[in-house]
Amino acid sequence: MKFILTNHDELTEKQLYNIANIKSQHWVYPIDSQIDWIQNVYKKSDTHIFLMDNDVLIGYVAIAEISIVADEKNLNVFGISCLCVDKRYLNNGYGSLIMERALRFAKDNEKSICLLCKEKLVRFYERCGYVAINPKNIFVEQSNYNYKLMIYDGIKNNEIETLIRAQNISIDRNF
Ligand SMILES: CC(C)(COP(=O)(O)OP(=O)(O)OC[C@H]1O[C@@H](n2cnc3c(N)ncnc32)[C@H](O)[C@@H]1OP(=O)(O)O)[C@@H](O)C(=O)NCCC(=O)NCCS
Repeated sequence: MKFILTNHDELTEKQLYNIANIKSQHWVYPIDSQIDWIQNVYKKSDTHIFLMDNDVLIGYVAIAEISIVADEKNLNVFGISCLCVDKRYLNNGYGSLIMERALRFAKDNEKSICLLCKEKLVRFYERCGYVAINPKNIFVEQSNYNYKLMIYDGIKNNEIETLIRAQNISIDRNF
């Protein structure tokens, strides 16, 4: 098995189709609408991480470059996006392995990392080293966000401290 990392602007047709396909196993929309979503949401310099077993896509995550205003402080961090594992391979540790690769990518780029998720996934991400933070308000693209914001706090830095203390967090884009 191996990881392949691809910049969004270098994604091949096949990779795009593979992402749409694996996403549609978990987020039930037609392939065409998945492809539109991927093309609209990601920016050129976002990164797609594929866990491959030869030609078979086992799991996937994207890393989006996001801007956050946390109590008037501007932060540029990575956002974990659309982590998913092919249904045939769930519960074999691949999801955690992909998260480890994503964390290494963030460390290599000296970026802090965060993610948005539903309550039921908090435990999974805690085991990957994330903590949920509880600001009064979270906005994503100026709309109220009512689920969980989690950050990786394995490496403490000013950005992480700012996010932990912030009462109002505004994220510039969906991811
Ligand atoms: C979340 C996901 C990537 C985990 O992948 P995985 O390869 O099965 O993960 P691992 O084998 O490393 O870890 C499995 C653990 O995560 C837990 N878990 C997996 N999916 C979960 C879910 N939807 N809700 C709650 N817990 C979940 C499992 O119960 C298991 O816990 P256990 O070890 O205590 O039994 C995978 O379940 C998936 O693709 N889910 C659908 C897409 C999704 O919701 N992604 C998250 C977007 S924020």
